[in-house]
Amino acid sequence: MSTSTLELSGLNFNLTEEHQAVQEAARDFAQTELLPGVIERDNAAKFPTEQVRRMGELGFLGMMVSPDYGGGGMDTVSYVIAMEEISKVDASCSVVMSVNNSLVCWGLEAFGTEEQKQKYLTRLATGEVIGAFCLSEPEAGSDATSQHTSAIDHGDYYLLNGTKNWITNGGSASTYLVMAQTHAEKQHRGINCLIVEKGQDGFVVGKKEDKMGIRASDTHSLMFTDVKVPKENRIGDDGFGFKFAMSTLNGGRIGIAAQALGIAAGAYELALKYAQERQSFGKKIFDHQAIQFKLAEMVTKIEAARLLVYKAARLKDEHKDYVQAAAMAKLFASEVAMWAATEAVQIHGGYGYVKEYHVERFMRDAKITQIYEGTSEIQKLVIARELLK
Ligand code: CAA
Repeated sequence: MSTSTLELSGLNFNLTEEHQAVQEAARDFAQTELLPGVIERDNAAKFPTEQVRRMGELGFLGMMVSPDYGGGGMDTVSYVIAMEEISKVDASCSVVMSVNNSLVCWGLEAFGTEEQKQKYLTRLATGEVIGAFCLSEPEAGSDATSQHTSAIDHGDYYLLNGTKNWITNGGSASTYLVMAQTHAEKQHRGINCLIVEKGQDGFVVGKKEDKMGIRASDTHSLMFTDVKVPKENRIGDDGFGFKFAMSTLNGGRIGIAAQALGIAAGAYELALKYAQERQSFGKKIFDHQAIQFKLAEMVTKIEAARLLVYKAARLKDEHKDYVQAAAMAKLFASEVAMWAATEAVQIHGGYGYVKEYHVERFMRDAKITQIYEGTSEIQKLVIARELLK
């Protein structure tokens, strides 16, 4: 069975013709334009500038944004379908896509003013520029309410000071959504989200991280020293910043779940192919039950992850509560990605341990899906808290 064929009838998860067209377009793009050079970009930790430009041209960077603001006007199911296909080949490109679509564009469209949308969203949705979402700090990862970056109110502007860490698209973005504390006494209810532009006085892009996986994506620390941010760049009411971050991350987690699903499915497809080519003890390794069992378990868990990802996406499209579903999808899909990629390396044996066969990259890339946009432990917390609501 192909992992990309979905038989979900009866659960109202049928792929429409539009979904199938998105799947084909994303698959074709990934195979023809991302696969060549993916190993070299990973080795060199080289940001995929040309590939990201093409993702913008093809409409993959603002898929869910209204056409009024230059987006594709598609649903979340289309977005996760594209994320899966692109992640099957290049998870460095898909994290750029995920952050731009679900953290930056979605947040701006859902909560920004008309002026903010006109000024920033259109350029982000078309991929003319890309965005970054800046919540994490050196001492605030999982404990995201402990924001030390400050945004002090000076009447018609905020004065922004502090450091952000592990920011995806940190060096390549032009528009940054920065969470900062304005009223410390109000704790998380005193946090604001400010739109900051690259090049503003006092804003410095810090060192690029040398990462285990998703090496071609650029992850930076950012430093803000007395950066003057106009009041009109605040998203939502005073003190809305933490709610903004959490609401946006709920959708972001569906994107990362789809990325994890793609990594798992990509690793599985390579392992299935290899198992039919490689011979040992006088037969294809696929004919050994030990290998069959691995592949059977992989495809089963991947299909289960896909159902959770589609369910979360569908709930979001139906404007139903998707907080728990998104956390479940991310928790499960990321655990499957790490496990399936490790199994794919095992099936490849010695070949799996070298770069040429891709699966070692999948294994390194999979790890971050259990960490960013909320660790597996945070997803369990979110799921458990929803049980009591
Ligand atoms: N959706 C909406 N609102 C939420 C929410 C959610 N999922 N989770 C919490 N909130 C709200 C709560 O309702 C509460 O609001 P009120 O006080 O107004 O009622 C407020 O946020 C604070 O929540 P808690 O009291 O539950 O706070 P807490 O400190 O106990 O827990 C947390 C908060 C859930 C652990 C949160 O800090 C969290 O999600 N941490 C993980 C942070 C994270 O995901 N970071 C990812 C960084 S971005 C990234 O990785 C992008 C990338 O590069 C790819």
